[in-house]
Amino acid sequence: MNSESGDERERKELDVLVQNISRILQEDDEKMYSGEVIAEFKNPTHAGRISDADGSGIADGLCNDTMEIFLKTESGLIRECRFYTDGCGASIACGNRLARFVEGMDLDSAWMVKSSDLISLLNGLPPDHEHCAALAVIALRNALRNLEKRRRMENGGST
Ligand code: FES
Repeated sequence: MNSESGDERERKELDVLVQNISRILQEDDEKMYSGEVIAEFKNPTHAGRISDADGSGIADGLCNDTMEIFLKTESGLIRECRFYTDGCGASIACGNRLARFVEGMDLDSAWMVKSSDLISLLNGLPPDHEHCAALAVIALRNALRNLEKRRRMENGGST
């Protein structure tokens, strides 16, 4: 005798449907994105904001997404970097990889980071998502600019 109610059967069918959809989406992601992008996106270790950051910057993309970068420094080096974005999966991967990349870097070197460096570190991005890397790098430069401005103000200089 089948004791399964109609509601239970429907719920199970729905669960299977959801599982199938998420498997298809994952397969699509794996076709579109490198393993590096997927790994960063799935484990964004550097996501978040730093409330007492020494410098922070934001960038607005033409895609209407934003990226924020927060920096803590010590002895001229970036000791901690965090990112926050309301953007796509690629932007999460870019923010996380960039944050990991610049930690421990001196400020002059951080200024030199280009979006092409970030794309290489991620082993490529689909062409229509390369701007997500640019968004992260622009936010980093705005954070560095903000950091320098704060330093000048602390030292009694003008803005
Ligand atoms: Fe807007 Fe990726 S950041 S599409």
